[in-house]
Amino acid sequence: MCGIVGYIGHKEAYPILINGLKRLEYRGYDSAGIALINGETRTYKCKGKVSDLESFIGNQNIKGNIGMGHTRWATHGEPNDVNAHPHISLNGHFTVIHNGIIENYDVLKKDLIKNGYTFKSETDTEVLANLIEYIYLKDESVTVEMAVRLALTKVIGAYGILVAAKEDTNMLIAARKGSPLVIGVGDGEYFFASDATPIVEHTKSVIYLDDDHMAIVERNSLTLKTIQNDVLEPEVTQIDLDIESIEKGGYEHFMLKEIFEQPNAIKDTFRGRVSERNKRIYLGGLHQALPKINNAKRMIIIGCGTSWHAGLVGEYLLEEYARIPVEVEYASEFRYRNPIINEDDVVIAISQSGETADTLAAIKLAKEKGATVIGICNVVGSSIPRETHAGVYTHAGPEIGVASTKAFTAQVAVLTMMSLMLGKERGNTNDDIYLQMIKAISSVPDYITKILEQNEKIQEIALKYKDASNFLYLGRGVLFPVALEGALKLKEISYIHAEGYPAAEMKHGPIALIDDKMPVVVIATKDKSYEKIVSNIQEVKARKGVVIAIVTEGDHVIKHLADHVIEIPDHHEAIAPLLTVIPLQLMSYYIAVARGCNVDQPRNLAKSVTVE
Ligand code: G6P
Repeated sequence: MCGIVGYIGHKEAYPILINGLKRLEYRGYDSAGIALINGETRTYKCKGKVSDLESFIGNQNIKGNIGMGHTRWATHGEPNDVNAHPHISLNGHFTVIHNGIIENYDVLKKDLIKNGYTFKSETDTEVLANLIEYIYLKDESVTVEMAVRLALTKVIGAYGILVAAKEDTNMLIAARKGSPLVIGVGDGEYFFASDATPIVEHTKSVIYLDDDHMAIVERNSLTLKTIQNDVLEPEVTQIDLDIESIEKGGYEHFMLKEIFEQPNAIKDTFRGRVSERNKRIYLGGLHQALPKINNAKRMIIIGCGTSWHAGLVGEYLLEEYARIPVEVEYASEFRYRNPIINEDDVVIAISQSGETADTLAAIKLAKEKGATVIGICNVVGSSIPRETHAGVYTHAGPEIGVASTKAFTAQVAVLTMMSLMLGKERGNTNDDIYLQMIKAISSVPDYITKILEQNEKIQEIALKYKDASNFLYLGRGVLFPVALEGALKLKEISYIHAEGYPAAEMKHGPIALIDDKMPVVVIATKDKSYEKIVSNIQEVKARKGVVIAIVTEGDHVIKHLADHVIEIPDHHEAIAPLLTVIPLQLMSYYIAVARGCNVDQPRNLAKSVTVE
């Protein structure tokens, strides 16, 4: 998704901007550009990666202490040099970079055309640049700041913007509605970015812009206002994110690093919440909402992509241990289907980034209808935690690889804790089970470490099937969503078609696809469905399918049936999703690398989907 960086201060802006854009590459993008301001404004932009932009700029003039940079993920108009940001208004008065989508851009554009405006690009951003300029030039009494403000009141949709004006080359204006924007506060300098990643190496003091707020920034001053012109007191907060944790740390890809970080990520998720010594699980972030949660008649879990899969795991666990009826919905479906929501419903929104547009809109809808909304998020200070009544941070650390790995297991870890805590609170989990579960949960990081030790074996299996055109993933019960997640990981990064299915459903369709070229990954650990899944494996083998089975350590039955087995330490059923997903992540990773795919930034995908 699009990324924004900006700088105003006493240093050369160019290296700060280029470095910042590189830090934002993980979001996924297809073109990049920068504007440098040094009395006059120079813009450079092109299709491709930030490194292409650097080559394109070459030896051209890069002087300037003020500037802005952008990575664009195409929404209006194809990825090309012209549609790349920054966009300059027709008469050159305003330069704009923008994240988000201006929904009424067509109406605004038609009006501007009637007033003599012409457009070079197909973007909604150029419409905004021209709208600001039109308002500015129409009336002599309108200042630069007023023009931006008035233009924004006419915009429907989402934006995070930076604006530079020809008439005031010592100022940048930032504004936000629905698309995140953070301002880093330095000494006589300010940094701007769509998330804190490019800022942390410069300063830990930040101001998060809220919706409908704008900041008018010069080297030594920042004025915060609403777009209705009410002046506000900026709140400077300190962020706890270090630069080492967002670099690759010796791994070839962020995704591999993040897979291997899972034992520590899960420990961090449990820290202060699961205590074997005190025999207690407690999520402090839910404290305020606990009376509502304890009386909830129903829970609705919403999310997108991998977060939705974590929600499906949560459904099984919450129903099993807390005995609360749960529904799981894609946020994008929930928000558009006039859902029936009651005041005693609790909605759980799951999101790694905390910025997914559909999930945010679904939260707003649930709140309007009176539900209590809980967030499960990874990015501290992002929009979702700020929109929800209560919540739990996953504390998995920054996830840079587009395909989610450690954020998924951390989300499932939170849902597992939540199920047990609520089971106990609501009197639905007896003490024996509760204590057994605390023990089981505490063993997860060590078990994951043991699974990761099989890295080379998993790589060997992966290499055998790197040229397959299709994969099928099967699981039962709480492991069905893990099958879905395994299939999603593979298709996201290797572009191999893969489907996840409940194992028993195979005979209602997918079995028709099985032949000796079809690898079938079966999650077949020892649980209450074990006998049934053994039968499913036999059904696949009878049709000459290739079976890669994830089994419990010491399983001799499946070892004789399957082509390959990957062993998981003997474990409690409730933690099976946290363990069985690990080999699936590794297998997808090695297949994608062997196929020469860009693992951390797969084609067409974005890390943070801030458009609908
Ligand atoms: C994108 C990412 C996925 C992620 C999904 C939801 O599609 O590529 O990895 O699962 O968005 O994102 P969220 O930040 O809300 O978890």
